[in-house]
Amino acid sequence: MSDVVKPKRGGPRSTVDWSESQPYKRIMVEKVSPAIGAVIDGVQLSDIDEETFNEIRRALNENCAIFFRDQHMTPEQHIAFGRRFGDLDVHPAAANSAGFEEILVISADENSNRANGEAWHSDVSCEPQPPMGSILYMKEIPPVGGDTLFASMYAAYDALSDRMKEYLHGLVAVHDGNHVYKGLYQGVADKPSYPMAKHPIVRTHPETGRLCIFVNRSFTTHIVGIPKDESDAILGYLFDHVEHPNFQTRFVWEENSVAFWDNRCAQHRAIWDYWPLRRYGHRVTVKGDTPV
Ligand code: SIN
Repeated sequence: MSDVVKPKRGGPRSTVDWSESQPYKRIMVEKVSPAIGAVIDGVQLSDIDEETFNEIRRALNENCAIFFRDQHMTPEQHIAFGRRFGDLDVHPAAANSAGFEEILVISADENSNRANGEAWHSDVSCEPQPPMGSILYMKEIPPVGGDTLFASMYAAYDALSDRMKEYLHGLVAVHDGNHVYKGLYQGVADKPSYPMAKHPIVRTHPETGRLCIFVNRSFTTHIVGIPKDESDAILGYLFDHVEHPNFQTRFVWEENSVAFWDNRCAQHRAIWDYWPLRRYGHRVTVKGDTPV
């Protein structure tokens, strides 16, 4: 008989008990995968009342990433929607803001040598207080391609063995913006430096109280206080682990779709498979708190 223990990826998870949930009254919420993501219907984000706002916040907490179709917002309305969730983050390396410092332009076309967010990450996790969430409104999309992958860091944490959870608890890792942002934009001068921060590898979500993994392939460079080869091996394992398809969904954009993801418990990766075609949108990013 084999003594090899199977990974828990498809096993029981400490997810919300859906049968216990109160029904939504203002919005329709349809989950798109077991681990992460829901499409929200019946709402225009340019005009929401308090009860609808509360239900959107609850849907985000229950699904980590929520998606809206056929939205019509001016940049001012987009910013105002973001502000309902908190103060807005100004990106430390933004090269284009469409005239609004709260907006990060997400754009790639035939002249691009890169696209935003092509590696798995949680937005600007190098900041001491990384963003709570990001709200991306896509105005132009290619006929096919340009999808975005999202992965639940709750599901990734839940699937770790108890021995690995025990090992990771209390460890802190460095998230460094310098190697990500330096020289990123052709023809745009670098800032003297970019943010760098230390965060717990396992963090507690401040609203749901659930535990999730908080390291990502883009920003996390090393674990503090252990030898480099051990740090490389553990981070390598975690980067591969969190990217397992069982923890993911893949969002297929339409013109005027909005994706709102929670950076505290989700990672994402944009797929640049549409060159030389154009993809264009605006992102508003809500400030977060110190990970604990
Ligand atoms: C990002 O905000 O990381 C970009 C996501 C995307 O373009 O889908």
